[in-house]
Amino acid sequence: MGKMRTQSAPWRAVAVLASVLLVGGVAACGNSDTGGGGTKDDGKITMGFSQVGAESGWRTANTISIKEAATAAGIELKFDDAQQKQENQIKAIRNYIQQKVDVIAFSPVVESGWDTVLKEAKDAGIPVILTDRSVDSADKSLYKTFLGSDFVKEGKLAGEWLVEQKKTATGPVNIVELQGSTGAAPANDRKKGFGEAIAANPNLKVIASQTGDFTRAGGKQVMEQFLKANKKIDVLFAHNDDMGLGALEAITAAGKVPGKDITIITIDAVKDGMQALADGKFNFIAECSPLLGPQLMDLAKKVKDGQEVPARIETQETTFTTEQAKEALPNRKY
Ligand code: AHR
Repeated sequence: MGKMRTQSAPWRAVAVLASVLLVGGVAACGNSDTGGGGTKDDGKITMGFSQVGAESGWRTANTISIKEAATAAGIELKFDDAQQKQENQIKAIRNYIQQKVDVIAFSPVVESGWDTVLKEAKDAGIPVILTDRSVDSADKSLYKTFLGSDFVKEGKLAGEWLVEQKKTATGPVNIVELQGSTGAAPANDRKKGFGEAIAANPNLKVIASQTGDFTRAGGKQVMEQFLKANKKIDVLFAHNDDMGLGALEAITAAGKVPGKDITIITIDAVKDGMQALADGKFNFIAECSPLLGPQLMDLAKKVKDGQEVPARIETQETTFTTEQAKEALPNRKY
């Protein structure tokens, strides 16, 4: 039998240090007390955020709100602009999963097709927060909460205002509709809400409805087509201010007076839209607030802590007429 070798003092010290490092390393990798499963528990929060794009004034204000709020809350933000493409968002979310961020937040460009990637995040133990737009997943456990507007309500408010304005109309009122990006929750829901509201007056008829992709260029181009194809347009309902602003150019170029010859209703209430309303070029705006950053960061902290959060948090919003826009404009933040 060979003799057992005893370690000399320096070797013993190295072995002890190695085992301490090994145990520490395993603990860091396997930490499940973070609310973020496989994520690090270093006391800091890292958020991976996938933004829709930079298609509108609303979106720019939303991005600023998120970046400023992250800094103020001491949250490290990894930000990606998906340029209005779902495949870019899926890629960004997969990157965030690989990087083991603490929380993933995103504003889904379209409503459908998220289950697989959301399941990947769930399996990795990374909580997901939906902000601004939601998804149509049947499995609500795939995300922690949805913070954003009620888009159906916005469309309804726009439609109800029009019904009131046209309550004495005896002949047909021809409406054209500039829809947001195809498949996006605000496009689907605003169309639905508006349609439901105007059904109360059989004189109100949507004679043309097409996407302008939430952009000024899209709004201008589609409005030009509407004007060429339809002799009598009484009302424009644009799913956001930017498309309405683009349409103003087409309407003016066609020799018509926006806000008079054609009643214009939009959604968002960003500064440029509010200015057009104050100037009488738009007639009514239903607000959609982009200032979601502070609430989002607060939710991220709670979710990381493992606290319960409400499944749905609705943004508080209002509507504006020309007089109200004149009053609100000087203090408008976006
Ligand atoms: O999801 C919110 C919508 O997206 C805004 O109404 C629009 O301006 C933006 O592009």
